[in-house]
Amino acid sequence: MKGVVLAGGLGTRLYPLTHATNKHLLPVYDKPMIYYPVQTLVSAGIKDILIVVGGPHAGDFIRVLQNGKEFGVTHLEYAYQTSGDGGIADALKLAQDFADEEPITVILGDNCTDADITFEVNNFADGAVIFLKEVEDPQRFGIAEVKDSKVVSIEEKPQNPKTNLAVTGLYIYDNQVFSHIKKIKSSARGQLEITDVNNIYIKGGKLRWAKLLGFWSDAGTFESLYRTSVFWARKSLGKKEKELTNF
Ligand code: G1P
Repeated sequence: MKGVVLAGGLGTRLYPLTHATNKHLLPVYDKPMIYYPVQTLVSAGIKDILIVVGGPHAGDFIRVLQNGKEFGVTHLEYAYQTSGDGGIADALKLAQDFADEEPITVILGDNCTDADITFEVNNFADGAVIFLKEVEDPQRFGIAEVKDSKVVSIEEKPQNPKTNLAVTGLYIYDNQVFSHIKKIKSSARGQLEITDVNNIYIKGGKLRWAKLLGFWSDAGTFESLYRTSVFWARKSLGKKEKELTNF
């Protein structure tokens, strides 16, 4: 299994912070944001990793991650997304040569979790696996509708969400993902949406899901960046479970 961290985009929701550097290098408590998704992959035994970068501060990643040895990464590659805010599926296209027919675990560079995904990584066969998490603000995410324990559809940022089950930015895909990306068109926000790719897997009966156990947050808005920093601060200061989740 190989790993892909998607860390492109312009981080416009975090202006003026992202005038200075890339969103994924901003601090989440005591570490640059990208340390967390890299650690999630490495903890699941994935040490062959591609980072897709983009935007005006892409060069900053090399200074921070270097060759990845400090994190236990054995092979670290970078790809550059030229399309700015082309979307998650557009960034993922750049991983095709790197994947080289193997399955890939993909994580968004602003997703910070302490969940352990080793079981799903080790037991992956084919198709796609997504990880769901209950959230209080479902309008912000891809939202899954589950019937008879199967995901029957995913809606991207629905105004009237059918559930509060967010599709987190962690996915496991077989090599079909690249041909599925070629079938999708830009959304209203001008992006190639990963949700459209996941819906193709659903139609083909090839999408499984698991609950993401533990803390999970993206850190792409001021509020979520703050909340994520508070969680990791409290966790590293040895706070109890209750104090970790109530803030
Ligand atoms: C993206 C995906 C969305 C997913 C979210 C998780 O949203 O489009 O489906 O729920 O990541 O962080 P975005 O960060 O582009 O708003």
